Amino acid sequence: MNIAIITGASAGMGRHFALQLDARGDLDEIWLIARRKERMEELASELTHARARIFALDLCVPSSFDEVSRALEQEAPNVAWLINNAGFGKIGRFEAIPPQSNLQMLDLNIRALTDLTQRALPFCSAGSRIIQVASSAGFLPITNFSVYAASKAYVVNFSNALAREVRPRGIGVTAVCPGPVQTEFFDVAATEGGAKSGPPGVMASPEKVVARALKDAERRRLLSVYGVSIKAFTFFSRFIPRPLALWATEKIYG
Ligand SMILES: NC(=O)c1ccc[n+]([C@@H]2O[C@H](COP(=O)([O-])OP(=O)(O)OC[C@H]3O[C@@H](n4cnc5c(N)ncnc54)[C@H](OP(=O)(O)O)[C@@H]3O)[C@@H](O)[C@H]2O)c1
Repeated sequence: MNIAIITGASAGMGRHFALQLDARGDLDEIWLIARRKERMEELASELTHARARIFALDLCVPSSFDEVSRALEQEAPNVAWLINNAGFGKIGRFEAIPPQSNLQMLDLNIRALTDLTQRALPFCSAGSRIIQVASSAGFLPITNFSVYAASKAYVVNFSNALAREVRPRGIGVTAVCPGPVQTEFFDVAATEGGAKSGPPGVMASPEKVVARALKDAERRRLLSVYGVSIKAFTFFSRFIPRPLALWATEKIYG
């Protein structure tokens, strides 16, 4: 049985990953993971090829992963796609964001992604693809978005190194690094840290970012970056002096 596992499937890019993978018609099941069950039930009814299996789980709770592990051990599927997409960020000064939220960003963006990758890898085979949704925020430190940006730097570096380790097994690992995307992300981001501004510039469509990510993952690219401006940012971020990055991002996320 060929399956895809998608976290953060109840909204935004996760939803589009499910729809676009389903449209390919070569998966038996798509395992949808997020907290909001009703949203995933709605999504399940829109799938036309694969069966949906819903896991209504809070991935900040470590025991949530046992349910997924049990299902993997029972079904012994081939995990053709693992899409670690669930994540959130809070904009604001580090001290203004409640400690619980700062720590939950680490739990979801880093811990959950790492845990699920380790549990799913034994069920991957040659041709399997792992997509780790990082962010262009992972390329530089970001003033007033500090924990989120640092958590995504982990995702980029972990994914790239893992890609090298699993390459001999024919498995690809791609870090997806979008700029601002039109989803619920910034509604969640602006709620607790006294953020005065939202995202900079125009927002990409989630459908297009996801389509690019799936293509790049098939080609076993290390990074997937959608759009000319974010590609340019990705390239030039290597040369931007840190004090300049910290000053500029303070202006953006002031
Ligand atoms: N939108 C952007 O501008 C942007 C840019 C770069 C990178 N990203 C990254 O893209 C990924 C997807 O975000 P999005 O833009 O699609 O945002 P979104 O619309 O807010 O979706 C986030 C998803 O994560 C799930 N989630 C949140 N907390 C969870 C938890 N504790 N346990 C399980 N699932 C949880 C949410 O589902 P429930 O609430 O139902 O649990 C939802 O399905 C994230 O990793 C984000 O960091 C986004």
